[in-house]
Amino acid sequence: MANTILNVKELNKAYGKKQVLHDINFSVAKGEVVTLLGPSGSGKSTLIRTINGLEDYQSGQIFFQGEEVVPTEKNLQKLRQKIGMVFQSYDLFPNLSVLDNITLGPVKVQKKDKKSVESEAHELLKSVGLNEFASAYPRQLSGGQKQRVAIVRALALHPEFMLFDEVTASLDPEMVRGILDIIIGLAKNDHMTMIVVTHEMNFAKQIADRVLFLENGQILEQTPADKFFSNPQTDRAKDFLESMDF
Ligand SMILES: Nc1ncnc2c1ncn2[C@@H]1O[C@H](COP(=O)(O)OP(=O)(O)O)[C@@H](O)[C@H]1O
Ligand SMILES: [Mg+2]
Repeated sequence: MANTILNVKELNKAYGKKQVLHDINFSVAKGEVVTLLGPSGSGKSTLIRTINGLEDYQSGQIFFQGEEVVPTEKNLQKLRQKIGMVFQSYDLFPNLSVLDNITLGPVKVQKKDKKSVESEAHELLKSVGLNEFASAYPRQLSGGQKQRVAIVRALALHPEFMLFDEVTASLDPEMVRGILDIIIGLAKNDHMTMIVVTHEMNFAKQIADRVLFLENGQILEQTPADKFFSNPQTDRAKDFLESMDF
């Protein structure tokens, strides 16, 4: 693909003796939304974390924007400026206000002008309905509000790629929709390139261009989303979809 942003080749990863990712091969084009589906323990989080340089690996190559990611501390820090990641647990700094949580990276790491970063942070907070919470502390927020802040914090770094790992999994049901809508907006309005791990199948169907279906650390299917949901090729994917409530 000419506009490939991420390319993963023959990636193998083990924790100790336990092989968790087997010969993973895939690429993601700029602006594409890939959902990573698969049963619990299939290696989804490990794959996402490996892409973002949070895990080492035994063999294979990862290319980002055409360059192989050689995992030195310096390269990984650079990579994490370009790849934003949001997890299930929001990991906000408890001792910092919402505004400071958001501006810390752009100001301290990216050395951007504090005033303009703050004004952008206010805009971003407004866009997720949290304009009144800039000076609040994480403990004063609900789970859904914290997750919004975590998304804004990632976006404030102007990433070129976003990784979302089950970001609604620990939220109360009434909080889920709002978060999914933010991610849908990022995909449809901002054309953000992303890999999304989710158990929300209707959301996956709505947002995905392509599905990677993972089981036991192997990619069993790698197909356009409409095809995956209407006509999965493997029995494992069929069983998986049937077990999901949607
Ligand atoms: N830090 C770790 N140390 C050892 N094994 C791990 C670690 N993290 C995950 N695993 C194992 O790797 C496999 C894949 O886990 P994970 O990537 O979390 O799957 P998923 O996100 O699809 O549920 C599982 O068997 C899990 O037990
Ligand atoms: Mg996981």
